[in-house]
This record gives sequence, structure tokens and C-alpha cells, in this order.
Amino acid sequence: MSEDPAKLSLSNFLAGETNDPLEAPPSFTNWMRVGAWAVKLYEPELLATADARTTISYGGQPKSVINLCSYNYLGLANHPEVIAAAHQALRTHGLGACGSPMLSGMTDLHRELERRVAQFLQREDAMIFNSGFGGALGTISGLLRKTDVAILDNRSHLSLRDGAILSRCRTEKFEHNDSGSLDAALARQKGRRQLVIVEGIYSMDGDFGNLPELLAVADSHGAKVFIDEAHSMLACGPTGRGAAEKFGVQDRFPLVYGTFSKAIGALGGFVAGSKETLQYLRFYAHPYVYSCALPPVVVAAILKALEIGTGQPELRTQLWDNADYFHAQLRGLGIDTGASTTYIMPIVIGDRERMYRLGHQLRRRGLWVAPVDYPAVPQDRICFRACVTAKHTRADLDEALNILEDTLAPAALQHA
Ligand SMILES: Cc1ncc(COP(=O)(O)O)c(C=O)c1O
Repeated sequence: MSEDPAKLSLSNFLAGETNDPLEAPPSFTNWMRVGAWAVKLYEPELLATADARTTISYGGQPKSVINLCSYNYLGLANHPEVIAAAHQALRTHGLGACGSPMLSGMTDLHRELERRVAQFLQREDAMIFNSGFGGALGTISGLLRKTDVAILDNRSHLSLRDGAILSRCRTEKFEHNDSGSLDAALARQKGRRQLVIVEGIYSMDGDFGNLPELLAVADSHGAKVFIDEAHSMLACGPTGRGAAEKFGVQDRFPLVYGTFSKAIGALGGFVAGSKETLQYLRFYAHPYVYSCALPPVVVAAILKALEIGTGQPELRTQLWDNADYFHAQLRGLGIDTGASTTYIMPIVIGDRERMYRLGHQLRRRGLWVAPVDYPAVPQDRICFRACVTAKHTRADLDEALNILEDTLAPAALQHA
């Protein structure tokens, strides 16, 4: 491959270049070598808890940073009561579940979590997956069939898209949050059954799914709608039941899917709905049937995190106060945060090389934000992603803003 390495992206290395399928394309290895200085921003090592201020390894040394990178939206990942619950379960249940939930990995703690999730979401039943990704993939691929059509927002998470591909149904995209585009997609693709797949909050753009309008369009075609509340669960809505609750449309979704890896601060996924649908899914969702259940120690911690998250609405209020404050200040600095209206904020840079250079400068100054490159976002929207949490103090946020102003505002203006 002869192109300028700066103009290449992950989408350029999908073809097999040699006869050995177990060998990485040599052009990719070379691209990684040339771009090693930029790639260093990935897979940073966290040396402490995912708290608002933490320590990561940078340049081989421990570095104190303000953390705008973790999904620990309510600060539950390192809550002392959550950690105590995990310690307790370690003593009673040991480390691993040591089997699929179908055969040997289900414990009383898992069953209790199913009940609590179902109760919280006012559904008949819930099932627990050992990963959020596997939960979305397993639910979509477990329910859709070859003659169906999945209609996905073009910013959908890969777990949902991969689930549709695995089911071998036809897939169709609509423009992000655009009800007119959804209407056209539904008219174009008439499978035996149509499933529209949306998200409560989009994980790269940080905007809400346009739920009421999209539901109305789906209804007009007789299509069902599936919602992924990964980033919205426990952090949005009057009682934390997610974006659907915020928009007053919970009852319009027969199933609700979410993760335990974001506001709950742990790991795993769930889907809640009718007993009959979940009984079917328990046998047809491969990541459920053929993969070890979550460790009981994690389940016990999730139970405690759920109790705290539902019992202390002030955590949500703090999260949103922080998000609103940070948004307003970023806008004041002239920083482009796209369509975000939530605690997830893209900080759009637009130019790849500049983004990686600035990423190193920010880390050196003690601000930890995530680099987001094409194809995860469009080329002209290459950005950092910042996540604000309830645990950030005003001093944390002001310090982060000062660093961003010093480092980034001149570059952003120069780019404009
Ligand atoms: C919208 C969405 N769905 C599903 C997932 C998968 O969740 P997990 O990270 O818990 O596997 C993510 C992860 O970030 C996500 O953003």
C-alpha cells in the first residue's frame, strides 16, 4: 500500500494480503509502526480506581489525571458499600460461576439480580449476560431470523449491528435520529417482521435517541422497536429507568436492554421483558447459553450498586448538574461538542493528526480523555470523548476546562 500513512484508517486493512489467515496484513503492521506515537494513547493502563481523579501509566510513569474517560457515571464502581458487598460474596460464593447459567453457573445472587432488575424496570422477568456486548448481540441474534429486517440507526453500537448480521436477517440503516429516513427505510425493506433498533443515549455523539418520533414512525409501519439503554440506564429519567422513562415512552418498548458496565460501574448486560419472550431467549441467545455466567462477586456488587443508584436520586442530580455546567463552559470556549446534550461529550477536532498530538499534550497536562478516530466516527468528526460523572467536583471540572482552554481552544480556532 503506497498511500500516505496519515490518510489511512482501520477501514483500509480488511483485505487479506498474504496466504496465511493467521497473519496480520504486513501493511497494517507497518502502519502501526509508523503511527506508534499516536497508538500509544490507546489501551492506557489504569493504576487505581476509575474515580474522578485517578492515576494512569503515561510514558512508563504513573501520572495523576482528571478522569473524563470512565463510564463510572454515578461513582458506584468504587463505592465503599459496593466493594464491601463484593468482599462478602467472595467469601460465600468464591470467585467464578464456573459454568453457563443454563447448566451450573446460575446462583441465588444471579436470580436475585434478575428479580431486582425486573422489579426496577416494572417487567415480568429479566435475564443477565456476562457482557453488555454479548447481551445485545445475543438478544438480537436470538430473536431475529433470516426472513426478518433489522433497521438500525447509522450510529448504532456494533454489538447491535453484529447481532443482526449473525441472525442473517436483512439489515437496513437510517440516518441518525432522522424519522423521515426511518420512514423511507421501513417502506423500502418489507421483511416478514421489521425491528427498528435505537439507543437511549448514543455512545459517541452523546445525544438522546429521538424516541417519541421514531416510535411514531415505527408504529405507522407496524414495526417493533428495540432499545439499548446501555449509557442511559440508572443515569436518566425521573427514577433512573433510562431515556425511555425520560420521554415517558417506557411502555412502548416490549423489551429493554442495558448494561451493568456504565452507571452501575461493574460488568455485564441484561434484558428485561415478558416471561415468555425471555424463556425463549434463554435457549436461543448463544452468549447466554454457551458462556460462563458473571462471577457471583460481580453480581453481589451490582445488587448493591443498583440499591444505591435507585435509592439516592441525588447522584443523578449531581451528574446532570455537572454535565450541564461542563457543556456550558465548553460552549463558552468555542469548543464543538456536536449534538451532545448529556454527560457524554465529543470534543470535535476533525483532523486526525492534530487530535493525536493534542491527546498527548492533554495527558501530559493531566487530563485523560479518550481518542475517537474514524471509522468509529465520520472523518470530519474525529474527536476526543469526555464523560462527566457525579463524582467530579467543580474544582475538577474547572481544572479540566483550564487545561482544555490552554491546549485546545487555539487549535480549534485555527481549524475553524
Ligand atoms: C450502546 C452500547 N451498547 C452496548 C455496549 C456494550 O456494553 P459492554 O461494554 O458492557 O459490553 C456498549 C458499550 O460501550 C454501548 O455503548
